[in-house]
Formats: sequence, C-alpha cells, structure tokens
Amino acid sequence: MQFKHIPLLTLASYVAAQASNNTLNATLSGNPDLSNLTSFISVSPGLLQQLSNAQNITILAPSDKAFEELLNSPTSEMLNEDPGLLSALLQYHILNGTYMADQISNMSAFIPTMLMNGSYSNVTGGQVVEAVQVGNETVFYSGLLRNTTVQEADLNFNGGVIHVIDSVLTLPLSVLDTLNIADLTALRGAVNTTDSISAVNDTPDLTIFAPTNEAFQSIGSALQNLTDEDLANILSYHVVNSTVGYSTDLENGTSLQTIQGSNVTITIDTNGTVFVNAARVVTPNILVANGVVHIIDNVLNPMATSGPTPSATSGAPGFTDASSVSDVPYTSDQPTPTTTMNPTEDGAGPATSSTTGGAVPMRTAVMGMGALFGGAAVLMI
Ligand SMILES: *[C@@H]1O[C@H](CO)[C@@H](O)[C@H](O)[C@H]1NC(C)=O
Ligand SMILES: *[C@@H]1O[C@H](CO)[C@@H](O)[C@H](O)[C@H]1NC(C)=O
Ligand SMILES: *[C@@H]1O[C@H](CO)[C@@H](O)[C@H](O)[C@H]1NC(C)=O
Ligand SMILES: *[C@@H]1O[C@H](CO)[C@@H](O)[C@H](O)[C@H]1NC(C)=O
Ligand SMILES: *[C@@H]1O[C@H](CO)[C@@H](O)[C@H](O)[C@H]1NC(C)=O
Ligand SMILES: *[C@@H]1O[C@H](CO)[C@@H](O)[C@H](O)[C@H]1NC(C)=O
Ligand SMILES: *[C@@H]1O[C@H](CO)[C@@H](O)[C@H](O)[C@H]1NC(C)=O
Ligand SMILES: *[C@@H]1O[C@H](CO)[C@@H](O)[C@H](O)[C@H]1NC(C)=O
Ligand SMILES: *[C@@H]1O[C@H](CO)[C@@H](O)[C@H](O)[C@H]1NC(C)=O
Ligand SMILES: *[C@@H]1O[C@H](CO)[C@@H](O)[C@H](O)[C@H]1NC(C)=O
Ligand SMILES: *[C@@H]1O[C@H](CO)[C@@H](O)[C@H](O)[C@H]1NC(C)=O
Ligand SMILES: *[C@@H]1O[C@H](CO)[C@@H](O)[C@H](O)[C@H]1NC(C)=O
Repeated sequence: MQFKHIPLLTLASYVAAQASNNTLNATLSGNPDLSNLTSFISVSPGLLQQLSNAQNITILAPSDKAFEELLNSPTSEMLNEDPGLLSALLQYHILNGTYMADQISNMSAFIPTMLMNGSYSNVTGGQVVEAVQVGNETVFYSGLLRNTTVQEADLNFNGGVIHVIDSVLTLPLSVLDTLNIADLTALRGAVNTTDSISAVNDTPDLTIFAPTNEAFQSIGSALQNLTDEDLANILSYHVVNSTVGYSTDLENGTSLQTIQGSNVTITIDTNGTVFVNAARVVTPNILVANGVVHIIDNVLNPMATSGPTPSATSGAPGFTDASSVSDVPYTSDQPTPTTTMNPTEDGAGPATSSTTGGAVPMRTAVMGMGALFGGAAVLMI
C-alpha cells in the first residue's frame, strides 16, 4: 500500500482505528477533541441505541471547544429544561449516508439527518443540512444560515465516517421566528393579520417565497385597501405545500403549484440568477423547522404571473400600478429581533441587521426555543 498520498490526519486516524477496533465508541473515545460528544451520546439512551446499530451514516462531531461555547450560552439552561432537546440536537448532527469530505463539492447538497422528531422538525425524511465546499473548506449550513467548518475530516468507523466541526449546528427555527430574525417582519405581520400563523408554522414540508420588507413597502398603496381575504389570497400564492424545494430542486422552468391554486414559475437566466415569476431570489435556502424559505425582492401577484425580462438583474414588481408608502406595511405590532441571521450563503449578499445592535439573545414569549438556539450560536462567533 502507498501511504505517501494519504493526508497525515487520515493516516493517523486510520492507524488509530485499526489499533483499537473500528467501532463508533472506539473512534469517538480515541479522539481527545470529542470527549463531550462521547459523554452526551452516552447520556442519550435512545440515541446510543440508534447509533450502535447504525450503518452508512456521517456524524458531524462538534469539538469540545464547540460544546464549551454552547454550554456557556443560554442554550445550556434550555438543555436542562427540555430533556428531548439534547437528543434532537444530536440527531441533527447525524447524516443519512456516508459522505467523505471529498464527496462534498462546490455545488450545495441538502442532506437528510436523523432529526425526524415532530416536536423539533416537520420535514419528511429528516431535517436537512446544506453541505458545500467553500474554497478549501468543507462547510455545513444549518438554521439561520449559520455555518460550521470541518476541522478534522474523514475519521472512519465501521458504520460510516465522522467529521469534527468547529461549532454546534443551529436547529432550524419555526417560520415565524426565522422571519423575525431575518428582518422579514412585513411578511410576518401580514401572516398574523390573516390569521395564518399556525398554517405556516405547523404544516409540514413547505417552500416559502418571502418578500423583503422593501418589497412590501414599494407596493404599499396597493396593499392599503385590501381585505384580509385578498391579502390571504396573495400570501398563499407565496407558499408551496408538500414540497421542500431547495435551490438544487429548482430548475429552469420548474412550475410549482402554490396553496393559492395557481403556479409560480422558476426561471434561471444564463448568469445563474434565479427568479420566481418576475421576482428575484436574493437569499435562497434558509432552513426552517418545516421546510425552506427563499427571500425574494418583490411581492408576487397571482394575477400577474409573467417571468423576468431577459437579462434583468433585479426583479420586477408584480403590482405594476402601485406606489411606495413611508412605513413598512404590517410591521406596527411586530417584535424587535434580538439577534441576526447570517449573511447569504456565499457571504456576498447584504447582511440583515439587528435592530437592537446587540447579539445577546433574550428570552421572550415571542422568541421560541429555536430562537434561543439561534441566539446562542451568535455568541459563538
Ligand atoms: C470489533 O469489536 C466488536 C465488538 O467489541 C467485535 O464484535 C468485532 O469482532 C471486533 N472486530 C475486529 C475486527 O476486531
Ligand atoms: C467505549 O470505549 C471506552 C474507552 O475505550 C470504554 O471504556 C467503554 O467501555 C466503551 N463502551 C462501550 C459501550 O463499549
Ligand atoms: C467537556 O470537555 C471538557 C474537556 O475538554 C471537560 O472539562 C468537561 O467536563 C466536559 N463536559 C462534559 C459535559 O462532558
Ligand atoms: C436513509 O435514506 C434512505 C433513502 O436514501 C431511506 O431509505 C432510509 O430509510 C433512510 N434511513 C433512515 C434511518 O432514515
Ligand atoms: C448509503 O446511504 C445513501 C444515502 O441514503 C444511499 O444513497 C446509499 O445507497 C447507501 N449505501 C449503502 C451501502 O447502503
Ligand atoms: C410540527 O407540526 C405539528 C402539528 O402538525 C406541531 O404541533 C409541531 O409544533 C410542529 N413542530 C415544529 C417543530 O414546528
Ligand atoms: C485554506 O485557505 C486559506 C486561505 O484561503 C489558508 O489560510 C488556509 O491555510 C487553507 N487551509 C488549508 C487546510 O489548506
Ligand atoms: C460563516 O459565518 C460567518 C459569520 O458568522 C461569516 O463571516 C463567514 O463568511 C461564513 N462563512 C461561510 C463560508 O459562509
Ligand atoms: C399578532 O397581532 C396581534 C395584534 O396586532 C399582536 O398583539 C400579536 O402580538 C401578534 N402576534 C405575533 C405572533 O406577532
Ligand atoms: C383606497 O381607499 C381610499 C378610501 O376609500 C381611496 O381614497 C383610495 O383611492 C384607495 N386607494 C387605492 C389604491 O385604491
Ligand atoms: C398541505 O397539504 C396537506 C397534505 O396534502 C393537507 O392536509 C393540508 O391541508 C395542506 N395545507 C394547506 C395549508 O394547504
Ligand atoms: C432558462 O429558460 C429560458 C427560457 O425558457 C432561457 O431563455 C434561458 O436561457 C434558460 N436558462 C438557462 C440557464 O439555460
């Protein structure tokens, strides 16, 4: 056998695994960075059982330093209060399938995890993580576009492979909490106005096209005289039921039936810019507890379903006769976000900003369990 092309780390773990038999337990307890994960797994009886029989899995293993940061955050208290939370969080770190680092390319993949517990996720087949190679690093995105980086790749064990990661993944939040933190408060308020909170938060497997606050503001005049019924009709044109459509599923020409009844059409121009009807997708793939949210730059109109004009660089309004208003519609009763979402996946887009300026999460009635997870992750940066 030739060793000279095998990276040093791989070789070291290969030797370690051979020496101590290749079980998960041996591989975990043989790695000094993973002592916390090892003890957490051992206090989650269901998980221990699940893992000891598992084949063909990938474990994203937060280092002890990653756990230290988590445990020094408010999440620590929540883990004490909710006995199911630790197991759910650990299940979210176990991917279905063996993914060696070199199988993760610069094209995003959305990989199902073992998180299927309906108290924490409503994505059929398991909540997903987004895996992608960025430069020379292997990166995973979780809730709120929070990223973690592989610091030690390809530790083999007899059920699959382990990658050591530098921060704990963020459980995808509810739609409402995500809209709050992502500063999509006009949509959040509109959802509340039309009594649709439970429909968007609790329906499994949704794809939601979420217009920015500016999009709502720019057509404010058209919204002023809408009945709640008309508004609900427009909002429901932004939601696809029974399909979680990540960017990898949205091909040029894809037509998706919305809850409103009519279809939206995906167009991808030659520059790779993605449009929904005539609106441009500005931030794709924000994972939420029951599906995925894509931020778009215009409000969609079920009565105006044409696509973008050729070589458009931004979206066009679906409400053509409307004019803008001074206040962002539907936001008067909205809570102030206490933390922020990460910038877009490639770090190129505009960051959403925190209106409080501070990264310290607050426990409020509005911010649910998941929001605290997001907030906790902010402290780790
Ligand atoms: C590894 O350990 C397991 C359980 O302790 C045992 O069943 C198996 O035979 C061992 N395999 C090797 C190759 O030693
Ligand atoms: C796991 O490995 C540790 C250290 O090698 C050992 O003490 C422990 O008994 C093992 N546990 C199981 C369930 O095999
Ligand atoms: C986590 O690991 C550190 C050492 O890295 C140790 O001091 C600490 O007790 C561990 N905590 C838990 C909960 O296992
Ligand atoms: C893993 O995914 C396969 C399909 O790719 C599925 O058949 C299997 O049930 C999944 N395993 C678990 C434990 O969810
Ligand atoms: C491992 O899991 C992946 C993803 O579910 C699946 O495509 C593949 O066929 C599985 N391989 C084996 C050997 O079970
Ligand atoms: C999943 O949906 C059920 C009802 O369908 C709901 O009670 C539960 O809260 C939802 N889970 C999450 C994490 O949103
Ligand atoms: C990855 O690239 C960065 C610069 O882009 C460099 O600083 C770093 O050392 C590289 N890491 C590895 C493991 O090659
Ligand atoms: C990861 O997130 C940090 C902010 O939390 C950001 O600065 C960085 O660009 C992100 N990295 C990637 C690869 O997205
Ligand atoms: C919904 O609106 C009502 C009245 O405007 C407000 O009191 C409530 O806090 C809002 N609910 C949410 C979840 O934003
Ligand atoms: C909205 O209603 C007001 C009062 O009824 C009216 O003056 C105004 O023209 C209407 N605006 C639009 C855009 O229809
Ligand atoms: C979504 O689809 C499910 C299953 O087809 C159905 O039961 C539910 O009523 C639908 N929800 C909405 C809001 O359309
Ligand atoms: C997508 O389809 C449109 C027309 O159907 C075409 O003009 C455009 O070039 C296609 N985009 C790509 C990337 O092929």
